[in-house]
Amino acid sequence: MGAVPYDTYARQLGLLAAEASRGRWERIADDVHAALNGQAASKLRSLVPRQVRRDTGSFFTTGAVRESFEQLLSLNAVQPDTRTYWDPTCGAGDLLLAATTRLPLAATPARTLTDWNRRLRGHDLQEPYIAAARMRLVLALLERHRQAGSDAPLALDRVTGAFPLLQLGDGLQELQIRSTEARFRGHILLNPPYGMADADPTCRWSSGSTSQAATFTAAAAVALRGGGRLTAVLPDVLRSGSRYRAWRDELTGLLEVEQIKPHGVFDMHTDVDVFLLSAVRRHRGHSGEVSWWPEPQAVTGRTLEDLFDIRVGPVVDNRDPRTGPQAPYLTARDLPAEGEMGLPERVRNYPKQLIAPPFVVLRRTSRPGQGSKGGSRGAGVLVVGDVPVAVDNHLIVASPKSAGIDRCWELLRVLERPETAKWLDERIRCRHLTVTAIRSLPWDSEDEPS
Ligand SMILES: C[S@@+](CC[C@H](N)C(=O)[O-])C[C@H]1O[C@@H](n2cnc3c(N)ncnc32)[C@H](O)[C@@H]1O
Repeated sequence: MGAVPYDTYARQLGLLAAEASRGRWERIADDVHAALNGQAASKLRSLVPRQVRRDTGSFFTTGAVRESFEQLLSLNAVQPDTRTYWDPTCGAGDLLLAATTRLPLAATPARTLTDWNRRLRGHDLQEPYIAAARMRLVLALLERHRQAGSDAPLALDRVTGAFPLLQLGDGLQELQIRSTEARFRGHILLNPPYGMADADPTCRWSSGSTSQAATFTAAAAVALRGGGRLTAVLPDVLRSGSRYRAWRDELTGLLEVEQIKPHGVFDMHTDVDVFLLSAVRRHRGHSGEVSWWPEPQAVTGRTLEDLFDIRVGPVVDNRDPRTGPQAPYLTARDLPAEGEMGLPERVRNYPKQLIAPPFVVLRRTSRPGQGSKGGSRGAGVLVVGDVPVAVDNHLIVASPKSAGIDRCWELLRVLERPETAKWLDERIRCRHLTVTAIRSLPWDSEDEPS
């Protein structure tokens, strides 16, 4: 059924735009304000069932993320902008609305509309979103004129025919067409669907199930002509996950990345961490490295992997056979928030690798900004005992290469530092800490290791 119920809201916006075009502001000013801000997203939640939103990748950029997006756009356009903007997955037009704040006004709404009609393009698979986006853009234009004191009526047929370059269509296909035909010389705005889909067999940087956000972004980078810009809101896993390293390499080969801004959770209804990206398509060649996360800035210049062997606990409880010797079995459930513990009481037969204490474990699942049981994110627990332990795969294990228990205590102090929590939050905002991230954690201990 797609997003058909959203059509009710799109029609309401059409009526509102018609009122505004006649200059009847006293009755509608508040409604227009709501329509240009979070209302499109709240109507999406109330009209379109959650499962449909999920299946179609529908959530609209509003509130703090849209403000950050707007700030990024404003960094590179001090003068009124003369560019063309294209959102290939435009939804109800929030990113295009952010871009209109950069566009100049002509003497009258009618003339401005003629100009903006050429400069704003969008695609989406859901017709009601496109209809809503067009009417919201009309409202934004009329509201800007009202604020500038150059208010004048706009004929109704101009309202109903506004923004013809916002069209029903597959944005990915449109981007791919641009990679072989005339490349796009303007500014692509992107907050694509985040669901998974199989990568195309010709894809150079991924195979199998792949984030659609990664696929859209790579296609956008290819579709741009040299000097064209890309500003995007993307799931944080693309910035910090080892799964997307080849994607990052692909992008930095095509784009001069100007800014990468970790943002945190998308909004209170959409529990996904995102980051913002601002980049320019290179004219040719690849120049230099891009840091997608903060570089290690350890005073000592060392990272954790210089001093510890770091791995994921080997036991996959529901898959591994319960054969072999019986051993103490350490799971995330049995860990204190932080500090030291002896051997766990839980036991399990395990035929493969056991790990000898002392070692430090970290929970793999921990949200940015907080750890479990009130501990800080990345808080470690020292495990001591005289027999080897079977460690569950929800834990990351750090075994000291030398200096045994003393080195483990040093590690707990490093993990407790606020600088470490901040580094982890910026390095990896998605829910799973990774071995790669933990290995590259700066070793900034007051007790300089020997
Ligand atoms: C995360 S929403 C973002 C919408 C808008 N860019 C924003 O930031 O508010 C993604 C949008 O992509 C649309 N979409 C999903 N697959 C698409 C495709 N292949 N082509 C065009 N639009 C698509 C969905 O309908 C949805 O409106």
